[in-house]
Amino acid sequence: MTTIDDPRPAAAPAANAGTLVPTLGGQYYCDPAIFEAEQDRIFEQMWFCAARGADLASPGAFRKVQVGRESVLVVRGRDGALNAFLNVCRHRGAMLCTEDAGTVNRHLRCPYHAWTYDLDGKLKAAPNLGSLTDANGARISRTEYGLVPVALREWLGYAWVCLADEPPSFETDVVGTVSARLGDADAVENYGVGGLSVGRRVVYDVKANWKLIIENFMECYHCATIHPELTEVLPEFADGLAAQYFVGHGALFGEQVQGFTIDGSAGVDPIPGVSADQDRRYYAITVRPNVFVSLVPDHVIFHRMYPMAADRTIVECDWLYVPDVVERGMDLDRSVELFHRVNVQDFDACERTQPAMSSRAYRAGGVLVPSEHHIGDFHDWVADKVRG
Ligand code: FES
Ligand SMILES: [Fe+2]
Repeated sequence: MTTIDDPRPAAAPAANAGTLVPTLGGQYYCDPAIFEAEQDRIFEQMWFCAARGADLASPGAFRKVQVGRESVLVVRGRDGALNAFLNVCRHRGAMLCTEDAGTVNRHLRCPYHAWTYDLDGKLKAAPNLGSLTDANGARISRTEYGLVPVALREWLGYAWVCLADEPPSFETDVVGTVSARLGDADAVENYGVGGLSVGRRVVYDVKANWKLIIENFMECYHCATIHPELTEVLPEFADGLAAQYFVGHGALFGEQVQGFTIDGSAGVDPIPGVSADQDRRYYAITVRPNVFVSLVPDHVIFHRMYPMAADRTIVECDWLYVPDVVERGMDLDRSVELFHRVNVQDFDACERTQPAMSSRAYRAGGVLVPSEHHIGDFHDWVADKVRG
C-alpha cells in the first residue's frame, strides 16, 4: 500500500471569483507509485472505453488493449457478440495474443503448449486434454479453465470494459455523465454515434501523464494562446474568462463560419438527428477516466486515452461521419485537419509541461485561475481515489 502525501494545503481557502487555488503536486504526474495506485483504483475499477466495435467486424476479430496493469482482449464471438478476456493463458500464463489487433481462425490458440479456447473463452482443446484430471481427480472443466472474462458493454459504437469484481453502474457512470453534461438524456442520441463510420483515425503517442491531457481538455484558458484556428471557428473560446463554459453548454460557431473545418468552410452532410439547438454548436464532454467526446453537426470526434506509464499516454482519436459520407469518399481533410491541429497543439503543451512535474519548482504544484477552478474537482477526485 502506497502512502501518498498531498502537498496541497489541508484547508484550501474557499475560492471566490479572483482566487488562485492550488493544483495537485508535481509527484502526481511523475511518481510511478502514484501511477500504480491510479491503475489499481481508477483504471481497473471504472468502465474503460477499449475499442470501436466496427473495427472487430467478423467472428475472431480481436483487439488487445492495456487497461490499468492488465492486457485485455476484446474479441468478436461466433454469435456476433463482443466478449472480453484477460489476455492470459490458464495453463502457465503465456500471453495469448501479442499483436495489437488481428483475426484468429475460429479459436484463440496459445502459442506455448497449444491450449485452445473458443471465442466465448471456454477451453476447447489441449494436448491430451481427455486424459487430464484436476487435483481432485475430476475431468477438466472447460469453463473453470477457460479464459478469465471481463465485463463488457457496448455504447456509442464502442466496447467499454470493466475489470472490477463488481462493476459500477454503467448507466450512472457513463451514460449519466454524458446526459448530465448535455443537460438532456436524449441529446447525445441525436448524433447516432453508434451508427457513424470512422472517416479517419489518428493515434498520438504523447509523452505526458494522462491527467495533464484531461486537465487541458477541461479548460480553454489556453485556447487564445495556442489554438488560432479553433478560436476562428469558435470565437468565444478566445475569451479566456468565458472559457470555463468550454465543457457542456455548446459553443456557437462564429457568424461567418459555415462548418467545423480548418478554414470555416462548409462541412459534409450533417448528421440527420441533430436538433435545431444543436446545429452550429460544438459540445465537449469528458467521461472519466479515458474518453473525450466532441459533437458538431456533421461529425463526432471521439478520443480514447490509454495511459501506458506515468509520463506516457497513447491517445487514439476517431473522426466519425454519416456512413454515406465515408462511402462516397467525400473530402474529410478540412474537418479532420481542424481537430488534428488542435490535438497536436494540446499534446505539445502537455509534453512541454511533463518534464517540469519533477522539478522542485513544482513540488507543491501550481495554481488554477478562476476559469480553471472546476479542474479542482477533478484533482480532488483523483486524490481521493489514490489515497484509497
Ligand atoms: S502457457 Fe498457454 S498452453 Fe501453456
Ligand atoms: Fe486545447
